[in-house]
Amino acid sequence: MTQRFLMCSPDYFEVHYSINPWMTGQIGKVDTSLATRQWEDFFSTLTQFAEVKLIKPQRHVPDLVFTANAGLILKNKFIPSRFRHNERRDEEPFFQDWFQSHGYEVVEWPKSVYFEGAGDALLQPGKSLLWAAHGFRTDLKAHAILADELQMQVISLKLVDSRFYHLDTCFCPLLDGRVMYYPPAFDQESLRLIEQHTAPENRILVSENDGLNFVCNAVLAGKNIILNHAGNDLKNQLEKAGYAVFIKPVTEFLKAGGANKCLTLELNQGTEEKRSGNKEDEIPLAVGSK
Ligand code: ARG
Repeated sequence: MTQRFLMCSPDYFEVHYSINPWMTGQIGKVDTSLATRQWEDFFSTLTQFAEVKLIKPQRHVPDLVFTANAGLILKNKFIPSRFRHNERRDEEPFFQDWFQSHGYEVVEWPKSVYFEGAGDALLQPGKSLLWAAHGFRTDLKAHAILADELQMQVISLKLVDSRFYHLDTCFCPLLDGRVMYYPPAFDQESLRLIEQHTAPENRILVSENDGLNFVCNAVLAGKNIILNHAGNDLKNQLEKAGYAVFIKPVTEFLKAGGANKCLTLELNQGTEEKRSGNKEDEIPLAVGSK
């Protein structure tokens, strides 16, 4: 099955406010024509391997380009985000309308529980397992609701470095049980949980330089991986794992604290036939790092 992604053209992208450390000092500093070129270059690479749907850009919601934060998708279910910051709350109805009108079952989510979608909740391909983060944006309480809603094991990871405020900035589940992550972004208990659920040979640890260049914010389309940057060592490791590596810089979007993966939302998640890896037997629900 062809993978499908949702993106949003950067017509109104800018840094108008600061809600993460990357945005500090960047207000009004986006080179919008460079941002557009970078987005188009990335978009055209992704469309070589996947189908890309577009949601209409809207004025006054510059972060709408980061469609990863729309919500979390499993098969036909759309669990909408509830943004922590007021600055992003006006995006919620645009995303919900899109999913409603495209035939998804839109789940009711409690307004009092913060949850930032596929920014903080990542499925492990081929397994019934969701990695979920808390610490900056998503509430720990959200994880139990997700486990219940998805009937899936949720592993709670705590983020501790404000530059890596969403899980997808520092952690990337790969095919065949592999994961790629930047360890200093997590507390000790979370690192232990990651190690408990992945074999040593399946862990790709990224360096500080790669981490700060948001390499974990990578998009997987089949065995192609598209990212903002990759040091030689990382590139070699990914190639050894069987990936074709495409470096598509999106540095203008880093000024807002997002890179390639944040600019996409995978639409057919949980329809695993497209992926390699075996579906595991049902695992009991469990929640980790508090
Ligand atoms: N400026 C946005 C924010 O701080 C960036 C979102 C990046 N998205 C992501 N999935 N990490 O909310």
